[in-house]
Amino acid sequence: MSKNRRRIEIRFRVNRKLRRVCVHPLTRLLDILRLELGLTGTKEGCGEGECGACAVLMDGELVNSCLIPAVQLHGRSIETIEGLSKRGRLHPIQQSFIQRGGTQCGFCTSGMIMASVALLMGKKHPSSAQIGEHLAGNLCRCTGYSPIVDSVRKVGKK
Ligand code: FES
Ligand code: FES
Repeated sequence: MSKNRRRIEIRFRVNRKLRRVCVHPLTRLLDILRLELGLTGTKEGCGEGECGACAVLMDGELVNSCLIPAVQLHGRSIETIEGLSKRGRLHPIQQSFIQRGGTQCGFCTSGMIMASVALLMGKKHPSSAQIGEHLAGNLCRCTGYSPIVDSVRKVGKK
């Protein structure tokens, strides 16, 4: 079977826009976002579901995009870091990360922020322990985690 014949058409929403891609059924969501759609804010760390660098929301649930094959995407709604700012204004959690030093090299940041958005959707004022527990699947090699927890705990505050 030729490579082309093994492609499938996927229609799904990314950051509220309808998108259509033709890819192999096992192409990872991470690669669709970065290579097909040019949304390079989502990063690849481990590629094995262990680091959270590639985290995005799928129908409002936090997922690691390196583990989601194209075949699961039809009709779904994906939100990435690029979809968080509205009318040129950063999302409050993005502002908080900048303000409190929650980002250093930035490699883990989009995954951290998407995981934080998922937490804050369910719980407006999480404790530090709850934030730490929720972000346990997101690894950071730079910050020592305290500024990240602080960024989430104080989101929206001066
Ligand atoms: S790159 Fe997906 S979890 Fe690490
Ligand atoms: S800020 Fe560098 S890995 Fe987290």
